[in-house]
Amino acid sequence: MTTQELQGFIDEVELVLADTDDQYEITERIAPHLSALLAGGYRLPPEFVRPSATRHQNYPLYIAPDDRWSLVSVVWNVGQRTPVHGHEMWGVVGIYSGSEREIRYLKPAADAVGPLTPAGEQVWRRGEVTVCCTTDDDVHSVVAEGDEPTIGIHVYGGNIGTMSRPSYDPATGEVHRFVSGWDDPAAGDQQDSAAAEHLTELR
Ligand SMILES: [Fe+2]
Repeated sequence: MTTQELQGFIDEVELVLADTDDQYEITERIAPHLSALLAGGYRLPPEFVRPSATRHQNYPLYIAPDDRWSLVSVVWNVGQRTPVHGHEMWGVVGIYSGSEREIRYLKPAADAVGPLTPAGEQVWRRGEVTVCCTTDDDVHSVVAEGDEPTIGIHVYGGNIGTMSRPSYDPATGEVHRFVSGWDDPAAGDQQDSAAAEHLTELR
């Protein structure tokens, strides 16, 4: 799924990645390109903005052939939220429509025990862009705010749908591994229950 505007953004990301392996530089340089995509009035196709009654959706807009990076349309229905989770890769998030509340935590050490340490909350609104993740700072939960679905365009430094990642119980620090998978924009709600079962199994 590409349009000229989206392909232009993909090309800009490729240029950055051809130039540096430094995650801090990568995210700093991608953020303004994502801001420009959002400010330019780019419109996602209808099948990439469809919320689900079950859980937030991860629609793949682009996955690099070598899995070095991916571009995702993430859609939360009204009131949906993610568990507290990590990414273990860099990430840049832009708000396409609606708004989200991001609740951040300090990343616990691999051998840490006990509750997570809160690191603040922020509401991100349409058109805003944030570096959500570097490998040392990537733990948060996200809540859809307001009375319309929240849609984000997310850029990640890997194939986010296939990587094993941690989710956390913030009260105890207990960690589970999960793979989010990808949602099929052509499938509508039919695949929701199967995907939810799959996610449960992985946990
Ligand atoms: Fe996240």
